[in-house]
Amino acid sequence: MTRTVYVNGEFVTEAHAKVSVFDRGYLFADGVYEVTPVINGKLVDFAPHMERLDRSLHELQIHWPCSQVEMKDIHQELVTRNHLTEGIIYMQVTRGVADRMFNFPKEIRPSLIAFTQVMTLVDNPNARTGVKVITTPDIRWMRRDIKSIMLLAPVLGKQEAVEKGAHEAWMVEDGHVTEGTSSNAYIVKDGVVITRPLSNRILAGCTRRALFRLAEDHKIKIEERAFTPEEAYAADEAFLTSASQFVMPITEIDGHRVGGGQPGPVTRKLRDIFLKEAQE
Ligand code: PDD
Repeated sequence: MTRTVYVNGEFVTEAHAKVSVFDRGYLFADGVYEVTPVINGKLVDFAPHMERLDRSLHELQIHWPCSQVEMKDIHQELVTRNHLTEGIIYMQVTRGVADRMFNFPKEIRPSLIAFTQVMTLVDNPNARTGVKVITTPDIRWMRRDIKSIMLLAPVLGKQEAVEKGAHEAWMVEDGHVTEGTSSNAYIVKDGVVITRPLSNRILAGCTRRALFRLAEDHKIKIEERAFTPEEAYAADEAFLTSASQFVMPITEIDGHRVGGGQPGPVTRKLRDIFLKEAQE
């Protein structure tokens, strides 16, 4: 099926979607993005994604491309026009079109594009078996709290993972895991979930935020601290979170089997309660 995508005020078929070669997103990766999950044709956790978008735009001095109401309408219209029941909406705002120079014009109209991707989120087979991760050095910039489209380091990290037969790469800095190339990272030891505190070194995941709330409701303890790869190898369980994977069990890290090679009970419980809420 040909997708209908959104480009700067218009819904067009993907073959007719065009952006300028002078768009600063294309020339400098000067832009930000969000990925919002869709289950049963409904946007999941839309508000936190917009809150984070607002922050990312503010940090980079990029104007909002439209009102927040329009932004939600665009997302919903894409779901409707593409008959999307399960998958994601990718939305990107770039600073806009200008002749190439590093500094940016202050009064420039941002570009906005968005499109749908069909994905199996709820009944994802990976969640039944768990996935493998490898570790790799974190070579990114120091403003990882901004959801920037400048993703070359994550692209290389994920490629390395895939070439080694793994699903994700956990990036390591100063001997500690920061996060995955496109997900947040967690281990479980003695029933306690351990994950890195928020800072400029990681992205504040919307799934992470939901997980914290659900864990509190269900009396699951979370300790916010950095952990080492060695600690992860010896953990009882490990998992990752993201908008497109929710809570995904990890059963192998750098070739070390974690938790007997099976998705663990705390991970499974967190995935279940997350999905239950998302489907309601
Ligand atoms: N990635 N950390 C990084 C570096 C990410 O790119 C992502 C999300 C997350 C998790 O954030 P959230 O729970 O809000 O999805 C953490 C998206 C899914 C992507 O790039 O496709």
